[in-house]
Amino acid sequence: MEQFKKDVLAGLSSNPKSLSSKYFYDAIGDGLFVQIMNMPEYYLTRAEHEIFKTKTKQIVEELGLKKDRYFELIELGAGDGTKTKELLSHLIANEYQFDYLPVDISQNALNGLKASLTTELPSLSVVPKQGDYFGVLESLKTSDHPKVVLFLGSNIGNMLDDIATKFLSQLSVALRPGDRLLLGVDLIKSAEIVLPAYNDAQGITRAFNLNLLTRINRELGANFDITNFAHLPEYTEQDGVARSYLQSKVAQTVRIDAINQEFKFAEGEKIHTEISRKYNDEVLGRILSKCDFSIHGKLTDRKGYFADYILVR
Ligand code: AVJ
Repeated sequence: MEQFKKDVLAGLSSNPKSLSSKYFYDAIGDGLFVQIMNMPEYYLTRAEHEIFKTKTKQIVEELGLKKDRYFELIELGAGDGTKTKELLSHLIANEYQFDYLPVDISQNALNGLKASLTTELPSLSVVPKQGDYFGVLESLKTSDHPKVVLFLGSNIGNMLDDIATKFLSQLSVALRPGDRLLLGVDLIKSAEIVLPAYNDAQGITRAFNLNLLTRINRELGANFDITNFAHLPEYTEQDGVARSYLQSKVAQTVRIDAINQEFKFAEGEKIHTEISRKYNDEVLGRILSKCDFSIHGKLTDRKGYFADYILVR
């Protein structure tokens, strides 16, 4: 809560204004994100699920997994684990020796995941951990077992390139030579395909974005009138980065009791809420050139919308 307060104060005091996308994920946001993953426009989840379903054996092979060699399977941003379950059930059925360590910012998502795995894969050992991505890096160093890290769903896309570089470089340092990272990224493609994924016809993404303000109202005692803000997504193929904003429809002042401050919004002023970076070999190569990872494999869906890269430390 304290961190939330600090981040909201800093974000709304800066120019241009911003709020961190990590605060989307309260119980309501988690539910809306599950709806997003099921919408017709949001091709990302389906494309990556196809890779996990149709190329499971190849994934296991490229990850270098051996049945008689114990490993830790760590998933960053596990969410509801739908794609991962394809891999988990294959590993269980083939008697691989491992523990599954899902990490997520949302305790709510972790509870749901743990409950569903207990019934679907009762013999799987699950050790959930709540926290943000950077926070978990330290705890990786405390075990010296072989590790496989899953970072799926283009979750890395929420980081600007210099943050992604810093994160992957710190992750590589926390791992040992031979450990692997399965990195799922959305690929750069035309705005015609990408933009609707962030601006769906049913308005679910709009509700997801606006929920940030509802959360500030509830948890920090603010008086945002969400009907005075519009959901505004932007993307160009040249840039390869989708950006989402909340745009003030009118000149207005909002009070936040928990930080005892008022914030002024001009008509048309934007609060930046999220970036969703899209990748290609060149963009990823640039980032990896400053990290201790090399590309070992790349799996894509039939349409070539999404890629799961296999990286070796
Ligand atoms: C969970 C970060 C992959 O950026 O596509 C979906 C979040 N935001 N719709 C993405 C999101 C709006 C999503 N990631």
